[in-house]
Amino acid sequence: MKKKWWHGKAAYQIYPKSFCDSNGDGIGDLKGIIGKLDYLKELGIDIVWISPIYQSPFVDQGYDISDYYALDPAFGTMEDMDLLLDEAKKRDIKIVMDLVVNHCSDQHEWFKKAAEDPYGKYGKYFYIMEGKDGGVPCNWRSYFGGSVWDKLPGHDHLYYLHMFAKEQPDLNWENKELREELYKMIRWWLEKGVAGFRLDAIINIKKDLRFQDFPADREDGMCAGTLMLQHAKGVHTFLQEMKEQAFAPYDAFTIGELFDFRQEEMERYIGEEGCFESIFDFAPHILGGSKNGWYDSKKVTPDEYKRAVFGSKQFSQDIGMMANIIENHDEPRGVSHYLPEGEVNETSKKMLGGLMMMAIGLPFLYQGQEIGMTNKTFTDIKEVDDISTLDEYHVALEQGLSKEEALKVISRMSRDNARTPMQWSDEPHGGFTKGKPWLRENENYREINVKEQENREDSVLSFYKAMLKLRKSQEYGEAIVYGRQTPWMEEKSNFVAFKRTGEEKTLLVMANYQKEAQKIQIAETIQKVVADNLRKVSDWGVNAPDQWKLAAGGNGWEILLKGYQFLVLEV
Ligand code: GLC
Ligand code: CA
Repeated sequence: MKKKWWHGKAAYQIYPKSFCDSNGDGIGDLKGIIGKLDYLKELGIDIVWISPIYQSPFVDQGYDISDYYALDPAFGTMEDMDLLLDEAKKRDIKIVMDLVVNHCSDQHEWFKKAAEDPYGKYGKYFYIMEGKDGGVPCNWRSYFGGSVWDKLPGHDHLYYLHMFAKEQPDLNWENKELREELYKMIRWWLEKGVAGFRLDAIINIKKDLRFQDFPADREDGMCAGTLMLQHAKGVHTFLQEMKEQAFAPYDAFTIGELFDFRQEEMERYIGEEGCFESIFDFAPHILGGSKNGWYDSKKVTPDEYKRAVFGSKQFSQDIGMMANIIENHDEPRGVSHYLPEGEVNETSKKMLGGLMMMAIGLPFLYQGQEIGMTNKTFTDIKEVDDISTLDEYHVALEQGLSKEEALKVISRMSRDNARTPMQWSDEPHGGFTKGKPWLRENENYREINVKEQENREDSVLSFYKAMLKLRKSQEYGEAIVYGRQTPWMEEKSNFVAFKRTGEEKTLLVMANYQKEAQKIQIAETIQKVVADNLRKVSDWGVNAPDQWKLAAGGNGWEILLKGYQFLVLEV
């Protein structure tokens, strides 16, 4: 793997609406972010991705952009942005923007002009087509429910394509003029000083241009729109062009949100000549999913989790570095999702975070993860804002679930679980705002908040800080960043362990992924206990306890791992 400046770094995602509100209007903003840069630095963060802050009608929380060159006033002014870039630079933090170019908003002037004159210049910026047999051009279902086709405003016989909400018309990447507009915009932001982009829903930019029906997969007669991705060839041509014309001249950091891609194409995505610097590793996140919808999704087991993570590391680590997450703004909270109900506590939260941070890849934290924020319990659908959650709620009801059952599904799966305000303190609304938050906070902010954890040595926050320090340490940094990852005792159930073999150090990472204790035999010599989620951080880095050796009776070592214990051993 060719070494890159970001390999040893740590990244953090900010969901700006919910991070920190500086002026009491209930919406997080750029000034709020500026005020927390020291907090992020302290935590050990070098790269910050901010979800969309562009001008937007917020049908999909900013993922529907009506002007790529303007910030939404809710977040602040361009001066605030310049200040943020300056202040971040002072602290050696790089700011990464969200790049949403598969689609824009139906309020973007391009779309308005397209509706005025579908056969003119801007009509070619979108996919506009005649219907078929008195209906839509084909039977694809959008990500947020309903057909991907809607009537072009003011035209009864013309439809436009939207893979997501109807307010998010897809941009026609086949049109060179459109592509050049986008590259110009990207260069404008890079020129301004942003370090790069997270590329939203990027695989969708290439369509299967036949726009044919596929066999229906639900009673609505439609099929998942993603099916077309299996037939859409040549996305790399667009991506390479974008890289050459927009990213490469600025040496921009780029990270793709990539689902539904072909494994054998990994090289073309993140290999040496790849079109991105990195992509997120979503292997665990697609587990348990069902084509029928959230109501039909299954709880993920520890062994499934392990297989997914091991699988993707196995095929990616010789090619490039993926980014590791346990959650983001589109997912439920990782600790609620991957740990059994009733077993979510500080120990198990640290275990999950520890595994994520010790696996090969760029650790990419999501706001609130570092304090162990959890899912919320939604008791009324009115508490939900997210467009996708509303759709899934109705799908569940249509399938015969009661309201209570459907709300349970939502509480387990909703994207709004991750979007509740950041919990800074035990003050009203978790200290996120002096006003009324745009989305109600999680009731547990009184127990789970930054202030309470900041000076407590055994807190989740202290654990994350210590793990990030380890990653940058002289002693273990090389092994953690570049060491080969190989599974260890892979067959053992509810147990996740792997080695990281660096040039000089070898680390053995192990996690007892259950509440019952488990005995582990180790033949290798244990040099040190590098990290242990059951010890205070200041007790890390000590020699292995004698009783481990005694327990083995002269045959190596034997450790009795307590429930959810997580260890990093130097061997
Ligand atoms: C990505 C975003 C998600 C958004 C969608 C449409 O998946 O992460 O939040 O709804 O794209 O832009
Ligand atoms: Ca505000």
